[in-house]
Amino acid sequence: MAEKKYTWYKIAGHINELDFADNNIAVAELKGKKICIGRHQEAVFAFAYKCPHAGGILADGHIDALGNIVCPLHRYKFSMQNGRNVSGEGYYLKHWPVEQREDGVFAGFEEEGGLWGIFR
Ligand code: FES
Repeated sequence: MAEKKYTWYKIAGHINELDFADNNIAVAELKGKKICIGRHQEAVFAFAYKCPHAGGILADGHIDALGNIVCPLHRYKFSMQNGRNVSGEGYYLKHWPVEQREDGVFAGFEEEGGLWGIFR
């Protein structure tokens, strides 16, 4: 399988610049579009602002002990790491890799479809 190619977009100069709420979720903006940044233990994840089920605002949800984001509307759970709907309703959460580098925090988007494919 071909290795995935990512285009990296800077979402913050440093992890401390992201405004994490008590639920360990911050909202970042990329060209006017919101995405969620979730923190679990030492790892940081990027995922869609809205739930794939019925548009619940995931930034208002919570992260469970296993690192799943729990939607505040109907409590479906999604792995922040791979987008799997671990509570079993068959949805899929868009998510993107995050890298913390010396010069900032970056989220990676697959080149195919570009950044805009993700917001459709
Ligand atoms: S809108 Fe998120 S579980 Fe229904």
